[in-house]
Amino acid sequence: MKIPLNRQAKQPIYLQIRDRINHLIQTGHLAPNTQLPSIRTLAQTTQVNKLTVLEAYSRLEADGLVRVKQGAGFFINAPQPPATAVPTATFNPAQKVILPTQGINAFPDIYAASLHSHARPGYIDFGLGFPQPTGLEDFQRLARRAMKESHTFFHPGDPQGDVELRKQISLILIQQGLEVSPESLIVTSGSMQALSLLAHHFVAPGDCVIIEAPTYHGFLSILQQRGAKIVGIPMTPQGMNLALLEQYLQSHCPKLIYTISTLHNPTGITTSVEHRKKLLALAQRHHCLVIEDNAYEPLSFEITPPPIKAFDAADSVIYVGTFSKTLMPGLRVGYMAITGAQREALIEQKLLHDFHSSAASQAIVKEYLASGHYRRRLSHLRGLHRTHRDYMVQALVKYFPPSVTWTVPNGGTFLWIQLPDSVSLQALCHLAAEKKVLVGSGAAFFPTRAGYPALRLNFSLPPEATDRGIQILGNILKAQLSCPVSGQDNCASLWASL
Ligand SMILES: Cc1ncc(COP(=O)(O)O)c(C=O)c1O
Repeated sequence: MKIPLNRQAKQPIYLQIRDRINHLIQTGHLAPNTQLPSIRTLAQTTQVNKLTVLEAYSRLEADGLVRVKQGAGFFINAPQPPATAVPTATFNPAQKVILPTQGINAFPDIYAASLHSHARPGYIDFGLGFPQPTGLEDFQRLARRAMKESHTFFHPGDPQGDVELRKQISLILIQQGLEVSPESLIVTSGSMQALSLLAHHFVAPGDCVIIEAPTYHGFLSILQQRGAKIVGIPMTPQGMNLALLEQYLQSHCPKLIYTISTLHNPTGITTSVEHRKKLLALAQRHHCLVIEDNAYEPLSFEITPPPIKAFDAADSVIYVGTFSKTLMPGLRVGYMAITGAQREALIEQKLLHDFHSSAASQAIVKEYLASGHYRRRLSHLRGLHRTHRDYMVQALVKYFPPSVTWTVPNGGTFLWIQLPDSVSLQALCHLAAEKKVLVGSGAAFFPTRAGYPALRLNFSLPPEATDRGIQILGNILKAQLSCPVSGQDNCASLWASL
């Protein structure tokens, strides 16, 4: 197979390979069931790295154009009938800045509740923060292989993390458009540790910090515990409201901005290149540091813009990533990319905190990355999640009242549902739990729970569970909306009939 490549072009090589094969499929030059050249053969004939070919094939697999047969290779799929269009997002919240006077440290309770919900079989849990467990056999095989280096676990480990692992992470980041050297990476015990180390290093009690509202409640709690003054800038469908950001940069001189630029938790929104560049320019003009948390980027169905850090020539952005959402949270492997003068100080912080992240966990992640299984797994997860997201959106259209709006994320695991103001979130969560449906109350994602009523729903559940759970939630919502919150006692018979 001839794949002409332009090595001077801005488009990465793996995308050029993907596009060329896509073109050959669309024009009928590659018929259904044709086998693609092996990864090694194509890497040799095109003179590229095997991982580049694997990435191209994985993208084709995620797009449903090819399938993998275990041990045999990649094959062209028969053309699919056009998919039913997924309804577009309807999310459009009021733009209200949240300035809490005192913090509510909600995350520890929420975490304790999630531990409890795992022990409740038969429940449909839309509140889960992680994808469904898959690929356990692969994991066990790769973990066994990784343990071949277990004799090294007796040696003192590098506080920055295993150098080979950092090289692998830097390769992944280059494919995302972010060029950072392995020397700029610090492997952490989950990205939560990176966020915690950063907050302790950069934020003193009383410092002002800008966050998106809503945002990841784990970091919100870290900031609250640190005694930071939090300013919650509302999310628009395009990302953080930049006009309000500018206004509060001027009036509050914040120390840092925390942003989740891709597949934002909890809304699922991914910002554009223009939004990223504007946010960075504003931050730099006001000498404000940016923490860019990119926990969900690898689960994007589509190519995402380069991270904000990719446009940062002044060391103003610290990039944070994790393997919790793509491999498994229990490994506790995350990382940060930090350039500039503060890097050494953060390595020292990491050393004093826990010496280094688990050598065993790092070895397993390294094995996933080096063997190419990580890319294969991502492409499998993306395909699965896209189908499951579509199921959830279809169920929402079918069962939810029309006054409810939602986002339709292009990846990740969550949908964000905005509810009418008259809905009682507490009653909704309570009634749903009685029907064995657990939901993530949106309140926890706002500073001092001061936002609008909302839910974060994990769409990675099996379709039957999604359909049943959304129907139950829809019935409760319809009943609540037909019965004002203040008059709930008068609705006892209605609740009983649900
Ligand atoms: C946006 C975001 N950042 C960081 C984390 C922390 O993840 P971990 O510490 O498991 O890497 C999470 C977990 O849910 C998250 O959603």
